Amino acid sequence: MRDGKGKIPMPTEKKRILTGDRTTGKLHLGHYVGSLKSRVALQNEYDSFILLADIQALTTHFENPELLEHSIYDVAMDNLSVGLDPNKITMVQQSRIPSIGELTVYYSMLVSVNALRHNPTIKTEAANYGYNDMTYGFLGYPVSQSADITFCKANLVPVGEDQKPHMEMTRKIVRRFNELYNGNLVEPEIMLSDCPRLMGLDGNAKMGKSLGNAIYLSDDRETVEKKVRAAVTDKNRISVKDPGNPDVCVVNKYHKIFNPDEHENICSMCKNAGIGCVACKKALAEAINTLLDPFRERRHYYENHRDEVTEIIKSGSDRANRIGNETVKEVKEAMHIYIGD
Ligand code: TRP
Repeated sequence: MRDGKGKIPMPTEKKRILTGDRTTGKLHLGHYVGSLKSRVALQNEYDSFILLADIQALTTHFENPELLEHSIYDVAMDNLSVGLDPNKITMVQQSRIPSIGELTVYYSMLVSVNALRHNPTIKTEAANYGYNDMTYGFLGYPVSQSADITFCKANLVPVGEDQKPHMEMTRKIVRRFNELYNGNLVEPEIMLSDCPRLMGLDGNAKMGKSLGNAIYLSDDRETVEKKVRAAVTDKNRISVKDPGNPDVCVVNKYHKIFNPDEHENICSMCKNAGIGCVACKKALAEAINTLLDPFRERRHYYENHRDEVTEIIKSGSDRANRIGNETVKEVKEAMHIYIGD
């Protein structure tokens, strides 16, 4: 496998992407516009790794892990249902990849506790979860995430804005490692989506499972209609006859994303009182359902072929292990602790 210079031969000429999700539950529209959509668009161009981050899920769910087993399948199926082709991508279950754990330990020498404490995403999440004495695993998950990204020498990581501090830490670790040990790790680039954050239909700044305002990729048509019907609109518009202000309406923001062709038309109709909120929401629900229909169809297939999903995860993880084991060897060699197989 090795070429004598300690480099791993690339299995393909394509550049590599790694991205993933914590397996804490079903994915929603916010995940779709923030990351899944670009995964699908990039799968032909890049050697794409999709990580089911089940160890990172444990950082917040270690006390009730019963939820996780189911979620591994939910997240795998969400990714497949939006159109990721199992013949093109490599789906990886984090806990099946020992090299990620090993790299985490080596990288932990290069990261100060203060850098982790000051990581803005860690701070926000710790506050949201109400942690005042967070676990070592939670505080350190950005180090583990650096191992997720570098075990396969990913070039590009398509993620949302909130992951930026983790990407900066990863790049810092890689630079420090390469400088200290004359290493060969690849410094990855972040790729931000053009729609990094989807607000909730309830007016909350973010769509989130814990916020109770999520439209799931696996929701059925009626559920989507019901959730859209409950959305907040322009509060000053009391009657259909009042002109509305689309600039302050969440439903309108959603039209821009999920119904772009009709967006302008809907804006002007709203301003002229030519369309009421009920009809406007109906049109939005229909647009979202049109997006989700093919996802539902694929999901139905995979739900009836669970063994296939298991096989996709296992074979993807096998490939990841072959690559990760080589990286660990290189890292150990560079750190002068490798004496041969
Ligand atoms: N922290 C990411 C999230 O919460 C999930 C994740 C884990 C990830 N490992 C990763 C994302 C590696 C990109 C690359 O969404």
